[in-house]
Amino acid sequence: MVEINPWSSKIYEDYEELLVNFGIERFDESMWKDLPNPHRLLRRGVVFGHRDFGRIKRAISERKPWVILTGLMPSGKMHLGHKMVIDQVKYYQDLGADIFIAVADMEAYATRNISFEESRKLAVEEYISNYIALGIDPEKCQVYFQSKREEVKNLAYVFGKKINWSQLVATYGFTSSTNMAHAYAPLIQAGDILHVQLEKFGGVRPTLVPVGVDQDPHLRLCRDIARAFRFFNVDRARDGRIGVFLKTEQDVKKLLDVAENVVKGYGLRDIERIDDYRAIYLNDAKDEDIELLNEEMAKAEVENGGYGFIQPSSTYHRLMMGLDGGKMSSSRPESAIFLSDDEGTVRRKVLSAKTGGKVSLEEQRKYGGEPEKCMVYELFLYHLIENDEELLDIYNRCRGGELKCGDCKKLAVELLNQLLRDIREKRGDEKEIEKIISD
Ligand code: TRP
Ligand code: SF4
Repeated sequence: MVEINPWSSKIYEDYEELLVNFGIERFDESMWKDLPNPHRLLRRGVVFGHRDFGRIKRAISERKPWVILTGLMPSGKMHLGHKMVIDQVKYYQDLGADIFIAVADMEAYATRNISFEESRKLAVEEYISNYIALGIDPEKCQVYFQSKREEVKNLAYVFGKKINWSQLVATYGFTSSTNMAHAYAPLIQAGDILHVQLEKFGGVRPTLVPVGVDQDPHLRLCRDIARAFRFFNVDRARDGRIGVFLKTEQDVKKLLDVAENVVKGYGLRDIERIDDYRAIYLNDAKDEDIELLNEEMAKAEVENGGYGFIQPSSTYHRLMMGLDGGKMSSSRPESAIFLSDDEGTVRRKVLSAKTGGKVSLEEQRKYGGEPEKCMVYELFLYHLIENDEELLDIYNRCRGGELKCGDCKKLAVELLNQLLRDIREKRGDEKEIEKIISD
């Protein structure tokens, strides 16, 4: 079985297997087709999996508040792989989400040995100014540093109470020589994700974390944590009955009173409260009610001294391949297009990219190329061609042997340089960067 390790340099190719083995849901057409102007990364299957995205769809269609939290480790220069995350964030910002972006300086310190000063410099010069260039509205977004946000660190500490070492070993393959800062990184990330549901940051609400699929272990852990800190479970019990179940043993009567009020306020009538079981059975509830009631209960928990976290939803995108067919990584400059690459560099990198072309032009004409294996096609698909028909045309002409790799590369160089020129022009100045950073 494949394992997902967020810190390894493995390339994930078999996305099907990830869906099956980890219980990630398929992000199929039914997930995106009702969204306003679905983003190309959603339409084209680049975002291929999710957990609980239905909750976000509902918030969007009912115009209820929801929030995006994602994060990037400032470990080098910002490249096209990172851009995918910000492209999605920008899309969701336009749909009305609150936006938070973490600079994962603690994770970079723990796992990449990058000092906090270095992180700050890298983040400001290489990342944040590009977020603005990519269209993130600084007025409606908080970019913060993990190391500077007390609430994140405090939550991480509190979360530690419900996570034991063998869970971390099972999830990440940690060993007895894993250093403690590294061991702490997943808890800090859970702090990132859940702190946006604290009152100070907008309160309990559906939270979406759009990330590369390598981040799924963190999300599984974070969802467990969110659940562990709830007082109530709203669920279908093993005997098939839907109910509200109190998990704590303190203040049973008081908390069940709270739950009873919520349930009645929600409109359910046929209820059966059994204090000894710490349960309220909801005989007239339906499956659709479970999630809604759960959100109502979460709010009531906050009023009664709890956190009331709603489990975060997530979407997973494929990781961009490197130009050479390996992993796209800042540590191998030839594998990646950086947003700061100049025109000559872009040309050189694209011209030497791995394609799905055949060894000779003659064979290519006869058998056609393989866009699925082509890094140039991937550039078109992920970043350079917005129009679906235009993209399909390239796909078909490649397969049909009509296209020459040389011509494709020329087009890619042109479009890419245009894109990067645009980004250079719009890059945020100091004032805008100051405005978007919020410690
Ligand atoms: N772990 C992520 C990475 O390796 C960065 C990150 C930190 C993050 N906190 C986050 C991602 C919260 C999503 C949500 O790049
Ligand atoms: Fe890739 Fe274009 Fe060559 Fe097809 S013709 S393999 S899309 S570069």
